[in-house]
Amino acid sequence: MTDVLAAGGWRNNAEMIADIARLGWIDSPVLDLTYGLGKFWDKHRPAELVANDLDPKRGDFTEDARQPPHQWWDRFQAVVYDPPYRLAGRRDQGFDDRYGLLEPTTRAEMLELIVRGSQGAARCTAVGGRCFVKCQAMINGGTYTDQPRIVQDAIEALPDEKFVLEGRFYLITRPRKQPAGRVQRTPRNNVSQLVAFRRV
Ligand SMILES: C[S@@+](CC[C@H](N)C(=O)[O-])C[C@H]1O[C@@H](n2cnc3c(N)ncnc32)[C@H](O)[C@@H]1O
Repeated sequence: MTDVLAAGGWRNNAEMIADIARLGWIDSPVLDLTYGLGKFWDKHRPAELVANDLDPKRGDFTEDARQPPHQWWDRFQAVVYDPPYRLAGRRDQGFDDRYGLLEPTTRAEMLELIVRGSQGAARCTAVGGRCFVKCQAMINGGTYTDQPRIVQDAIEALPDEKFVLEGRFYLITRPRKQPAGRVQRTPRNNVSQLVAFRRV
């Protein structure tokens, strides 16, 4: 067996999750708040997985990740939150089905979904369990948005639950092409992150 690395080597989220599971970081019961097409679990399927997505065509529950129901609070050994972290209308064509249609359209909406959903994920994590948030640093409208840092600040700001940052897993993504005729002035960020926290 090869070592589990923090960066690269995976072709997709499923391969990354399977490696994280090898660390013993994904114990059941698991809650996936943004189950989507369930791609995270293509290689490692936890024994107990609760599949939630606001879109009723995806998953078994349709709770809003920003306001998870009380009965889920403090309950799960692992909680995954993979929000739509790009702005709608700016991604490559053909991605709609994978990313869902409930995408934010403004930077403020995107940040609200990331912050409140991350806090929702944290709330559902049992003491000793882990919470994972998928995000990416990117430039929106000329402003650098450091989503991983925003997620960390949001989770560490929770008054009643204490979390420690336990690791970041870096997945190389397919960058969008520079629009024809526009001069490139900033680097394309082609790394997404799964930020891992442990509740203490
Ligand atoms: C990036 S996709 C998740 C992809 C998923 N991890 C997979 O493997 O297929 C984001 C998902 O979040 C869902 N979503 C958007 N807003 C939500 C919310 N407030 N609460 C729960 N799910 C939400 C969308 O319907 C979409 O399926």
